[in-house]
This record gives sequence, C-alpha cells and structure tokens, in this order.
Amino acid sequence: MKALHDSNVTNQFGPRAKAYVESAVHSQGADLARIGEIAAATAPARAIDLGCGGGHVTYAMAPHAAETFACDLSTDMLAAVRDTAAARGFDGVRTTRTSVEALPFESASFDMLGCRFSAHHWQDVDAGLREGRRVLKPGAPAVFVDVVAPPAPLLDTHLQGVELLRDTSHVRDYSVLEWQRKLEAAGFAVKQIGTWQLRMDFPVWIARMATPEPLAVAIRMVQDSAAEEVRRHFAIEPDGSFLLDMAIFETVAV
Ligand SMILES: C[S@@+](CC[C@H](N)C(=O)[O-])C[C@H]1O[C@@H](n2cnc3c(N)ncnc32)[C@H](O)[C@@H]1O
Repeated sequence: MKALHDSNVTNQFGPRAKAYVESAVHSQGADLARIGEIAAATAPARAIDLGCGGGHVTYAMAPHAAETFACDLSTDMLAAVRDTAAARGFDGVRTTRTSVEALPFESASFDMLGCRFSAHHWQDVDAGLREGRRVLKPGAPAVFVDVVAPPAPLLDTHLQGVELLRDTSHVRDYSVLEWQRKLEAAGFAVKQIGTWQLRMDFPVWIARMATPEPLAVAIRMVQDSAAEEVRRHFAIEPDGSFLLDMAIFETVAV
C-alpha cells in the first residue's frame, strides 16, 4: 500500500531538517521581522507556530513569548528546533508532534499564532485553519505567510506543476483571493496583506528538497517549453532560477 499523505510529508521533510534550519530563504526576510514585531507588541503568554519546519517563526516569537509551541508532523524537524532553540537560549520553546488539522490543545489557549511556508502542504487546509482559530483567544493576532498562486490559470498551473515535480508532497499554493476566503471562513479577520517576490536559486531550491534528478530535469523541460507569459511572470533564468510570489496575511481571531 502507498504511504498516506502525511507520511509523504514527513518522508520528504524529515531527512532535510538541517537544510531547513540553515536555509537562507527560510531564516531571513522582512516577513519574519514583521512576525517578531507583532510578537513584541503582543507579548504572548503562549504562542503557537503551525508547521514550524526549521523553526524560524518560533525563533521570531520566542524572545517575546513566555512559551512558544513549535508544531510539526516531523519529529526530525522538532528535534532540530529543540537543538537550535537551546543553542540560542530560548528556554520557553516547546515542541509538539501533531498534524495541524487536529491540534492537541485546549480551545482559546494561545495568544498569538504564526504559520509560514507550511499551509501549501496540508491535506485539509480548511481544517488546519479552523484548528488554528480554535486554539486562539478572540482578538489574538495570527500571521500566515506562504507562496501564492498568481490569479491567471496559465501561471497557476505552471506553478503547481513545478512545485509538485520538485516535492511530490506538494498540495496547492493558494491565490491571495483563496487565502482571504479561507481565512474568513475559518474565523480570522484579515487586517493587512503584503505581497512580494522571492528569487529561488534553482540548484539550491532542488538540493534543499533532494529532488530526484529525473524530476529536476522534468522541471527544466517544463520551464523551457513554457509560454512567454509564464517565463516573463516567473522571470525564469537560463539555469532555471525564478521568482516565487509570496504573501503575508496579518489577521486577528474573531
Ligand atoms: C517548508 S517547512 C516550514 C518552514 C518554516 N515554517 C519556516 O518558516 O521556515 C514545511 C513544514 O510543514 C510541515 N507540515 C506539512 N504538513 C503539515 C501538517 N498537516 N501538520 C503539521 N505540519 C505539517 C512539514 O513537516 C514541514 O516541516
């Protein structure tokens, strides 16, 4: 029998925990700084990071929170977060192995939520967002950051195609409009949205996920045969490096 989706996710991410802690794309960014600013203004007793990966949102919130719960499906990611938090002196960091779709926490027990570059892997994004809302107190800030799909189907399909070839546990990069609708349906009021583009260096992007060579070759073939509109939007370079669309959603639990 084939592995279930959540096992595909842990199989993909577990062996790459160190790469995600060290990744420049993941460890830097104005979005992380913004999460830190919101945490500083909130001073949460309990903050939660959904799909913590290498833990960069956790480390942004931890200096301002009494306790920060880093949550992920992957025990290897959580071990890397524990080691890094200890090395940085973040005593309030706790790790919890869980699916975001079924959080093992009481309702209204957190004061801030951060979630970055994870939701596009979730099997049931609506359930994950509902769970995030459930564990937050009303009025608590929740910040979501993710890769977003451009609204044009031509561009959207190209993006999902190369994402799936690179990482076969990819589910979907949602558009800004899809995000807004999903966040509102889950009980978040969207206060502010920011968008930007982030350059993916092709060899680094492929190496981080250890994409098998035939799939990396397939991505290059898809890029090479893409329409001019696609090549222009993603600014595809001769070596396959390109720009990804990102968005940050600053919300409040209703
Ligand atoms: C790209 S990494 C996250 C990066 C990290 N948040 C950051 O800001 O650097 C994606 C993580 O989401 C986790 N993940 C994917 N689906 C999940 C789910 N349904 N529940 C919990 N964690 C999940 C993966 O195990 C992986 O560690």
